[in-house]
Amino acid sequence: MGNDLEKVLYTEEQIQTRLAEMAQQIDADYAGREVLLVGVLNGAVMVMADLSRKLQTQVTMDWMAISSYGSGTKSSGVVRILKDLTTDILGKHVLIVEDIIDSGLTLSWLVSNLRSRNPESIEVATMLRKPEAAKVDVDVRYVGFDIPNEFVIGYGLDYAERYRTLPFVGTLAPHVYSS
Ligand code: IMP
Ligand code: MG
Repeated sequence: MGNDLEKVLYTEEQIQTRLAEMAQQIDADYAGREVLLVGVLNGAVMVMADLSRKLQTQVTMDWMAISSYGSGTKSSGVVRILKDLTTDILGKHVLIVEDIIDSGLTLSWLVSNLRSRNPESIEVATMLRKPEAAKVDVDVRYVGFDIPNEFVIGYGLDYAERYRTLPFVGTLAPHVYSS
């Protein structure tokens, strides 16, 4: 796996430090209210696990699986629910937890889908955000890092379902894409 890497963008330590800052901000914003964290499978698993454990806020968790990407590196723009929430979000404070926002198409669709279920509030936290995301009209309240328009892997993010377990975020060597 080591040979597949090109460079590390954010180390494990940088990620954890940033998540702690985000958690403090979330705790301050929700001040004593209970929050339902909605993780987007599979990529957000790591962010969800680490961010949630840094929160003082009382939280519950639920998960959605949606597909917008194939096994390649380009967004298809088509969103499909593979697994819906098990919780009723009516009247709840929902915080969507995302790994990365690229085109923003997935998130934009998700926010309007969840909004139609009448939560008390809905906000978004993402570990990474790419420049393209600015074009979509979705307010992202908590952003870990704004990154350049590069394909990244690690810390939940995959290329063809691999590399999710790396504790850091990095880019892949060109030979990985051509093989
Ligand atoms: P969007 O709809 O273009 O914002 O795509 C969002 C989803 O695409 C993310 O939740 C990821 O699953 C995937 N994605 C976007 N960029 C990357 C990347 O650089 N590496 C790995 N997955 C990515
Ligand atoms: Mg995702």
